[in-house]
Amino acid sequence: MDLTKNLDGIKPDPIRYWVKECKDAGATNMFTIGVPDKIPKDILETFAKAAYDKELEGITGYPPFVGEAGLKEAIIDMEGRFGATLSPTDTDNMYVTIGASQALQFFFSLFQQGSEILVNTPCWGTIFNMVAHSGNKGVPVGLFESGKFVKENADAATTEKTKAVYINYPANPTAEVMGPKELKRMCEWAVSKDLQIVTDEPYKYVIFDNDKTPYESPVSFGQEINENVSLISSFSKIIKPDIRLGFIRVSKIIMDSHKMVGFFFRNLSAGATRSVQAGVEAVIRQDPSLPFLKDVVAGYEKKSELVQKMLTEWGCELPYKPAGTYMIFPTTHDGSDSEDWVKKIAAERKCGFVPGTSFGGAFDGFGHLRSHFRMGFGAGMEYENLEKVLSDLTR
Ligand SMILES: Cc1ncc(COP(=O)(O)O)c(C=O)c1O
Repeated sequence: MDLTKNLDGIKPDPIRYWVKECKDAGATNMFTIGVPDKIPKDILETFAKAAYDKELEGITGYPPFVGEAGLKEAIIDMEGRFGATLSPTDTDNMYVTIGASQALQFFFSLFQQGSEILVNTPCWGTIFNMVAHSGNKGVPVGLFESGKFVKENADAATTEKTKAVYINYPANPTAEVMGPKELKRMCEWAVSKDLQIVTDEPYKYVIFDNDKTPYESPVSFGQEINENVSLISSFSKIIKPDIRLGFIRVSKIIMDSHKMVGFFFRNLSAGATRSVQAGVEAVIRQDPSLPFLKDVVAGYEKKSELVQKMLTEWGCELPYKPAGTYMIFPTTHDGSDSEDWVKKIAAERKCGFVPGTSFGGAFDGFGHLRSHFRMGFGAGMEYENLEKVLSDLTR
């Protein structure tokens, strides 16, 4: 049977593929998937109680497919505390989604098939599958080098088919934050080329030091840029990934381009679970600056420093300096190709990592990423245990 040609663009998931490879090779200490640490129990209780109470209201109808109005208001309040200034009327072009994943899939599907989306690389490799799913092509481009926007790279990657630019700061896998000045320069360039900007920001809540490495979202760069920006985020890294809740604030330009954008979204799931939305709203309303994350982030920072120290002593290099999150993107300790290295380390040292080829390193022109690997050290791994595993690894 002839199925959609879009299937031909799908590759094995670049992260999950390596989870299996590592396990098959004998790894038992898995640093492969990026999973956050646990949040405090009282916050989970707030979430669960509000979800429970909502269930007991006995509503049997569908949730509003655009998302609950109260949650969207709370999101706007929360976003303002994390560098993303939105206006109260943004509830009109905001959709509550099943994680950032659904928001991304929705966004990429809005473009005519055959469009090209520039993907700032190194990047979360799954994004290429999401773009391909919609019949479009993700084009890797190093928009920033050493913290500076590189216009020549951006120009060279742009063709008549280019419709949008995908960015993700704080970044998966590098954990870097791009400073507002250079990020804004890139956005000005994109707007000058009539390109939409999609900014995927699920990690901005877990920055180590907001004074040293502040994050400012492109939605905050003034009206002209704002109107071209679609902001996507998620509660996966705030609460936990299995609640599957995220959102997109669609750009004004996109909203104004077709009156069916909203109904296009409706077809994807007819809305997100009402009780989950109620739980998340309750957590945000408790305090939209999410103070409970402070200790969680301090734990990430402590682990990140340990990992940086031990891996550097082993011989790994760290050209990308982590500013937050629970991941790191160093080079292999001996500079070898990361795919071979990951298999060898899984077999010999029983540790699982994801090679740089899953984050753009497999593309022409990005060979320098082949010697990198990603390590995720969330997932509740205790500091002491991490230290022990790392000393076995680097012995
Ligand atoms: C950069 C980035 N965007 C989006 C996602 C997907 O997030 P969600 O769990 O909200 O679908 C991830 C998940 O790891 C991610 O790293």
